[in-house]
Amino acid sequence: MRRVPFLAGNWKMHKGPKETKEFIVELFAAIAKDTSLKGFLKENKVELGIFPPFVSLETAGREVASADISLSLGAQNMHWEDSGAFTGEIAGKMLMEVGCKYVILGHSERRHIFGESDETIGKKMNKALEIGLKPVLCVGETLEERDEGITETVVKRQLEEALRSLREHENIKDNIVIAYEPVWAIGTGRKASDEDAQSVCAYIRKFIEERFGSTAAEGIRILYGGSVKPDNAKGLMEQKDIDGALIGGASLDVGSFLEISRNTI
Ligand code: G3P
Repeated sequence: MRRVPFLAGNWKMHKGPKETKEFIVELFAAIAKDTSLKGFLKENKVELGIFPPFVSLETAGREVASADISLSLGAQNMHWEDSGAFTGEIAGKMLMEVGCKYVILGHSERRHIFGESDETIGKKMNKALEIGLKPVLCVGETLEERDEGITETVVKRQLEEALRSLREHENIKDNIVIAYEPVWAIGTGRKASDEDAQSVCAYIRKFIEERFGSTAAEGIRILYGGSVKPDNAKGLMEQKDIDGALIGGASLDVGSFLEISRNTI
């Protein structure tokens, strides 16, 4: 089964509306000159996506909607209710209203800095799927957990909790993306080796097969995230079970984001 590679830029707390617009204008101008990448995007052979901060989403949504080059838009978090007394929170439906197709859920910075639990992430997963927003579910172990040799146990627990209430018949292959992001590789310049990243992504695919069947497992896209840069992307993308990357720092610059994308096609 052909899985469309997905290069997703998680901007974290970078770029307000002004810089977001400048980035998108520059990105589209660069893609317009690159016939090969433009062709791949047009034929849906690769997908590019950006995940700006909340306040920049509306600007991004407008730019994306008026362009003839396809660029997916996503948010970095959401609440599990549609509305209510939740000061400082944003509902998934609000994200869809400004053009979001995706939402990152369970990023390690949300888990470790803001104390999000597996249970909370599960509730958000359910809400996103209910309203038609596609979650990019992040899983991954800390350095201590890796050193203890419990990477698969941790990833399994995170998957089980996040996907607990999903049923086998739900079309998870088209509606969910999973990103394996080892915590120790995020923002450290220390990328997991291609083989280690492949082995955990293969484990995730096996989990999906056991839980949801082979069609789901063959179709679901699994990304790697953690210090992905133009010079280390190619080896990763050649791995059988890695279908793209969730890119932090290197996605903030049009040049490096595009170079990583070109290394994938
Ligand atoms: O979600 C992407 C991320 O956490 C990786 O960040 O800066 O290591 O590419 P970075």
